[in-house]
Amino acid sequence: MQKMISKLNNKEARLAVLGLGYVGLPLAVSFAKVGFQVTGFDLDEGKVAAVNRGDSYIIDIPSEELDAVVRSGNLKATTDFSKLADMDSVNICVPTPLGKTRDPDITYIQAAVGSIAESMHSGLLVILESTTYPGTTEEVILPLLSENGFEVGKDFFLAFSPERVDPGNPTFHTINIPKVVGGVTANCTEVAKSLYSQVMDTVVPVSSVRVAETVKLLENTFRSVNIGLVNEIALMCSAMDIDVWEVIDGAATKPFGFMPFYPGPGLGGHCIPIDPFYLSWKAKQAGSEARFIDLAGQVNGFMPRHVLKLVTQGLNDRRKSVNGSKVLIVGVAYKPGIDDLRESPALDILEMVTGLGGETSWYDPHVPALPAGIESTRLEEWTPAAVAGFDAVVIVTPHPGVDHAMLLGTGPVIIDTRNALKGHKSPDLIRL
Ligand SMILES: NC(=O)c1ccc[n+]([C@@H]2O[C@H](COP(=O)([O-])OP(=O)(O)OC[C@H]3O[C@@H](n4cnc5c(N)ncnc54)[C@H](O)[C@@H]3O)[C@@H](O)[C@H]2O)c1
Repeated sequence: MQKMISKLNNKEARLAVLGLGYVGLPLAVSFAKVGFQVTGFDLDEGKVAAVNRGDSYIIDIPSEELDAVVRSGNLKATTDFSKLADMDSVNICVPTPLGKTRDPDITYIQAAVGSIAESMHSGLLVILESTTYPGTTEEVILPLLSENGFEVGKDFFLAFSPERVDPGNPTFHTINIPKVVGGVTANCTEVAKSLYSQVMDTVVPVSSVRVAETVKLLENTFRSVNIGLVNEIALMCSAMDIDVWEVIDGAATKPFGFMPFYPGPGLGGHCIPIDPFYLSWKAKQAGSEARFIDLAGQVNGFMPRHVLKLVTQGLNDRRKSVNGSKVLIVGVAYKPGIDDLRESPALDILEMVTGLGGETSWYDPHVPALPAGIESTRLEEWTPAAVAGFDAVVIVTPHPGVDHAMLLGTGPVIIDTRNALKGHKSPDLIRL
């Protein structure tokens, strides 16, 4: 153990990051910037080539920053997993989606660990960063890595450390977000802590790997449930003709005991709509019901349909139907300032409008194209003339820098699902 800790402290350990996506690439760059020799492994040849060219595809990593660490020789990427044999440490950052039946799909983790197991050697530190259900590290990874008689805490070290990156956040990045870490044994925690201490401002060891796994799920469940609560309050306020946005602003003046969450068109992204179901799935196996998670999932999952109802109402007030109307969706990424379309409610809304016979277009300066199969026209220009021909405009994701007030007075009914037009009054405006 001491040998590995001193290798880490002297930055002589060769680090691997498996999965070079939104989580893995920033982590690999952070390790490389402090002087480690880092190798990124990914199945995606396009990503590997882009990294080796110093060409970033992740919004939080400018290409100049990536290029600098690649040129310094500290970071390279490969699809050749046999090179794992040369590594001292591996951080796993592969996807953890839900399957078709909304159960956890940990096949990416199993495949990644399978590659590590093929090159398993003494002294290796393995840390899972992908969000997953409590027990994954000990029940799924540990047996695979112990197969050839390697003893955890002695021959190799295994830990879980949840990734908390918030893409597009200008304040908090990989290194200044406190890093929770829990090892399978105390030695594992100690070694993993030594790695992160070289890079992160704050490392928070916890007593077990299961605690570390559950920390992440509590964080995301907290958000899902609070967003579900405020979405339900928004539906109630809508029925009672009360402005929910003003209610939240009023409540947020309380200096203690209240934290504002805001309603919206539905959850998006790889985390909040998915992760709580990893917890409820595992809890059900232990005989415990996750009622808040299920309820929040129902309320949040209903929001795109509520937005469709507002579109229908707005058109109906003008003696129009969705069928045959031109509807513009503004902002299709799942949150402001980023280009990520995963689980974006905008895609559901587009499909529902199309399903009712509406003719849809979309505008999003961050997104070059929609996924294949979604029929909708990209609006290239953000001008009064370009939007005037629409019957309805739905603001789904208000990106910074887009002048939403420009829409006012151009003609279409405006459904504002995010209070992007705060402070504006117009007979054309319907707020969520
Ligand atoms: N995106 C976020 O904001 C965020 C935040 C916190 C936690 N997480 C969690 O982190 C994990 C990774 O998420 P992400 O957003 O970075 O995903 P991503 O899809 O952006 O990146 C994952 C990468 O892993 C690669 N990959 C898949 N299988 C592989 C394998 N066997 N070996 C090597 N590479 C493989 C993919 O090609 C892809 O490049 C997930 O569990 C996610 O829930 C994501």
